[in-house]
Amino acid sequence: MGKRGKFITLEGGEGVGKSTLLADLRAKLRARGIAVQLAREPGGTALGEAVRALLLDPASRSMSAESELLLMFASRAQLVRELVLPTLKTGGWVLSDRYVDASYAYQGGGRLVPDARICALEEWVCAGLKPDLTLLLDLPVSTGRARIVRRGNMDRIETETDAFFERVRERYRRRAEAESGRFCVIDASLAPAQVLQASMVAVNRLIKASA
Ligand code: TMP
Repeated sequence: MGKRGKFITLEGGEGVGKSTLLADLRAKLRARGIAVQLAREPGGTALGEAVRALLLDPASRSMSAESELLLMFASRAQLVRELVLPTLKTGGWVLSDRYVDASYAYQGGGRLVPDARICALEEWVCAGLKPDLTLLLDLPVSTGRARIVRRGNMDRIETETDAFFERVRERYRRRAEAESGRFCVIDASLAPAQVLQASMVAVNRLIKASA
């Protein structure tokens, strides 16, 4: 049996620069001869992208916290089985824009859904799959907000209050503290090149460990 690939996730609040970092990291890994599969949550499969459209549509304003959580996990169930596990099994690396930490931060921290509910879904849906490394891009809420307002076309979740996003940020930071071996917290107010450099320190450690 060949070696299992590595699973890296990117997390953070709104406007922290995950997309830029994802593209930069893919290029760096490819240059090292590592096959990389990109993913995103919600989404990343045909079914997941349809669920994503429902979740982010501003017209879904009556969506309950329970529906939101279950739809996030429906998308995740498909992504894990259709894309992440098969890729890792064949030795490929997966770089995912969000994974289960986002449910603890947004639905747990933001919407105040009890952790026990999220935990039960994680146990069932994620089949024991944990990221090898999670890069948490941390940014003051007001800075992230200014970036997304500049970008325009806000989705349903982006229009939440600052208090909601403060709870999201706090929950991410608490999870990073509790699992400091898996998380690498990066100051997302730095320039993209510096964010990439800080990320590569952690990624290089993973490359070494897998050699
Ligand atoms: P993004 O891909 O632009 O970050 O948008 C995804 C949105 O979905 C973002 O607001 C975070 C939110 N989200 C949750 O609320 N819970 C989750 O479990 C995931 C994966 C995303």
